[in-house]
Amino acid sequence: MTGSSLQLTVVVPTFNEVGNVSVLIDRLTQTLQGIEWEVIFVDDDSQDGTYQKLHTIAQCNARVRVLRRVGRRGLSSACIEGLLASAAPYMAVMDADLQHDENCLPAMLQAVQSEGFDLAVGSRYVEGGSTGDWSEQRVSVSKWATLLSQKLLKLQLQDPMSGFFMMRRSVLEGAVYRLSNLGFKILVDLVVSSPKPLQIKEIPFHFGLRVAGESKLDTRVAWDYLMLLADKTVGQYVPAKLISFASVGAMGVAVHLLVLGISKVLFVLPFMVAQASAVLISMVFNFYLNNLLTYRDQQLHGQAWFWGLIKFMLACSLGGAANVGVASYLYGSDGLWVLSGLMGILVGLIWNFGVTSMLVWPQRAKH
Ligand code: GDD
Ligand code: MN
Repeated sequence: MTGSSLQLTVVVPTFNEVGNVSVLIDRLTQTLQGIEWEVIFVDDDSQDGTYQKLHTIAQCNARVRVLRRVGRRGLSSACIEGLLASAAPYMAVMDADLQHDENCLPAMLQAVQSEGFDLAVGSRYVEGGSTGDWSEQRVSVSKWATLLSQKLLKLQLQDPMSGFFMMRRSVLEGAVYRLSNLGFKILVDLVVSSPKPLQIKEIPFHFGLRVAGESKLDTRVAWDYLMLLADKTVGQYVPAKLISFASVGAMGVAVHLLVLGISKVLFVLPFMVAQASAVLISMVFNFYLNNLLTYRDQQLHGQAWFWGLIKFMLACSLGGAANVGVASYLYGSDGLWVLSGLMGILVGLIWNFGVTSMLVWPQRAKH
């Protein structure tokens, strides 16, 4: 890098993108001639050699940096950590898989540097942009998700779901303490977390085809998105993970009743046995779904999964006892069974959530 100061950092999250990263670096080098730029890749310990490849490139190209995260997953949190590692006055986020058109970067830089905008967004939904050849189903899911955040979070943006944008440093600094860090939708997170309304320019682009590797977007991303919306609307009162935990718990109640019904009616088991089976099965169900959804960013696998399950069941048994204890005590003093029952559930829920988040999914989960 020359003596003049750094202007632009491009943050690129990667997960199994070994076939794309060197092409991307070549394209950035072409497009960003005349600009002092760097790229920070944030790799979640890809198993296909992405990190090793980037590491080798970074050894002889000072514009390339790579941050390796171990035991973590998450597109938003990867982008945020990359952004926080930048010292540039302007920073962009783009995908590694060449689906975002790097030729937009100079126009984006101009927007935030000299046209007075805080944020420039690569947009598929303004005149001149498109989703390329997405399936009809994906287009409609994307449109629904967009509508939801436009209505619920009152966003004016045409394409809040975009993962391609550039901002002034002050945008990150204004939002950093309020970011939810959840899921895939980092742009929504940034805009909603900003203390004051942002001046935003949307720049059209055609969403390209993925040539190498595969998309990581799956159905669980929808759950993450709902959690982000929950966090951005009621998150100041209730943590998003608690909302997720409680929703899984509600489904667990349905599973419990189903198992109870089947064991009682179909297999004609004694009530005690039927109820005990229902408790066991719904606990495994709760653990499984929480590991998949609520704690997706620190999911347990293999042996750790079994230990996690055992700890979860022990913790929840105590939670169950606390539930019954509190409910019976309240019922004894006020005689209101619905209220007493609900209070018992609330105490059990908070106990289970608190204890399992410390014991089963602590901040540094092992794989
Ligand atoms: N570090 C890290 N950790 N990177 C990730 C992770 C993760 O858990 N999951 C995905 N990535 C990286 C991928 O390697 C890729 O560079 C980029 O994030 C986008 O992932 P894709 O799997 O290619 O997503 P997509 O093409 O289906 O969705 C894209 O377009 C949507 C519509 O604009 C993303 O940009 C979405 O954010 C966007 O909403
Ligand atoms: Mn992609």
